[in-house]
Amino acid sequence: MNTPPHEPLRIVGICGSLRAVSYTRMALTEALAGARALGAETELIDLRHYALVFCDGSKQEAQRAPDVARLQAQVRAAHGILLGTPEYHSGYSGVLKNALDLMGFEELGGKVMGLVAVSGGGMGAANALNALRVVGRSLHAWVVPEQVSIAQASKQFDAAGRAVDADLAERLHAVGRQVARFAYLHSSQQAQEFLRLWETAPANPGGR
Ligand SMILES: Cc1cc2nc3c(=O)[nH]c(=O)nc-3n(C[C@H](O)[C@H](O)[C@H](O)COP(=O)(O)O)c2cc1C
Repeated sequence: MNTPPHEPLRIVGICGSLRAVSYTRMALTEALAGARALGAETELIDLRHYALVFCDGSKQEAQRAPDVARLQAQVRAAHGILLGTPEYHSGYSGVLKNALDLMGFEELGGKVMGLVAVSGGGMGAANALNALRVVGRSLHAWVVPEQVSIAQASKQFDAAGRAVDADLAERLHAVGRQVARFAYLHSSQQAQEFLRLWETAPANPGGR
């Protein structure tokens, strides 16, 4: 895949689990590998290494905590974002919610977004995925249709953190690839020019 001529394609993954051995982090790592396979630069944002504060709605949090500004800058510089979360009480994690609340349109608006989620139980993480999809839409992100819900996550990864099942690994890679593809389409100069021409094209009269 060609990257935009002006800059490399950047995809970041934000992990919504703080656990030292996190299946969410393993799933995100696989998804980021999919994006990398198409030539994107990738980075995993591990929130264990960010001293964030709670969002208080003041928009002053970045002044109080330098890591809030660091998170915002990394996401602002990305063309695509992969969000990973554990299913917590049939939703996504508070850690991820707070990180998203510390950001807004400036960081996430217009960005291409992909979702992966894990659950301890057998029901999977569809509730977390559906809730995150709504959050993405409200931030005016383009949430791609591919997504992965991983049930019984403790059985799905080996000691090295790799998916034990080739089919699961491929589904995670596919989310990463889809985010990279659409992030490229959405940011390349050729695509921008095509959209400009499209939007200024004369109306199509159809069969009249
Ligand atoms: C507060 C909390 C709530 C949870 N709620 C659910 C749940 O509703 N359904 C489920 O299947 N697992 C639930 N789990 C289990 C986690 O989804 C599971 O342990 C998962 O692997 C955690 O992700 P991680 O390995 O990335 O930390 C919950 C765990 C915690 C700590």
